[in-house]
Amino acid sequence: MFTRHKITVIGAGATGATTAHLLALKELGDIVLVDVAEGIPQGKALDMWESCPIEGLSIKVLGSNDYEPTANSDILVVTAGMPRKPGMSRDDLLKVNADIVYQVVEKAAKLSPDSVIVVLTNPADVMAYVAQKASGFPHHRVIGQAGVLDSARFRTFLAEALNVAPKDVTAFVMGGHGDDMVPLVRYSYVGGIPVEKLLPKDTLDAIVQRTRTGGGEVLGLMKQSAFYAPGSSLAEMVKAVLNDERRVIPAICYLNGEYGEQDIYVGVPSILGGRGVEKVLEVDFTGDEAQQFKKSVASVRKPLSMLQY
Ligand code: 2OP
Repeated sequence: MFTRHKITVIGAGATGATTAHLLALKELGDIVLVDVAEGIPQGKALDMWESCPIEGLSIKVLGSNDYEPTANSDILVVTAGMPRKPGMSRDDLLKVNADIVYQVVEKAAKLSPDSVIVVLTNPADVMAYVAQKASGFPHHRVIGQAGVLDSARFRTFLAEALNVAPKDVTAFVMGGHGDDMVPLVRYSYVGGIPVEKLLPKDTLDAIVQRTRTGGGEVLGLMKQSAFYAPGSSLAEMVKAVLNDERRVIPAICYLNGEYGEQDIYVGVPSILGGRGVEKVLEVDFTGDEAQQFKKSVASVRKPLSMLQY
């Protein structure tokens, strides 16, 4: 007997609610939206559910302040925590969000012991590590979201410069989800053509820099963290796992020797499928790329070392 997938989204703020709405529109499964704020997850979920007749969706959306309704979820999406405010770095959220993520994951994971966890809360690389500790799940079933978002920004800026459809640009970003993330120009193509053949170096350098500060750019404009592209990024990862798509997607994965790194979660190319991270893909680096990646990994190890796990 087949049953519908069940997806829990923890955190009903702008990103959590946007993610839940996107997941509903993609009809990926029944959705439970959880938040501590009285009435907020319940109201937002009911409002989404009431759009189902119009959108032609045969799924349920439920909101809750407690975790019982999340039991036996296939996927736990973690967006709970404080978002950045203008002038803050993602690492400024470390202590407050580590406690929140640990608590919510511990509760949800107990009720959905076979689920895959996807974490967006910042600082995302460290929060993925915290979520794995809180759940005790195998590392491949705990994934952080940042690479899809950063790569989407990179692809958007490349498409803008080339005046082409963003969907025809393939590119990815590695490393930590911070200002020294590593957009890899050498692996960026449009319709199979290397972008280096189509754009001058100074344009590419400017695009790399704009990608690195993409989150800050949106935050600076609307004085609130981005949530549409983060929501789309989470929905893409959830779909890859739920449908066992074996998508090649940049994700925050646990490294156990890959890229010469041990015991850390950081953004790398991966294959995402039913098990979560099916495989971490190791790409070759030039000397400069290797140095950038090492620097970015070090930027993740620094806040991680401030937590006692
Ligand atoms: C961003 O880069 C929220 O970290 C997220 O927009």
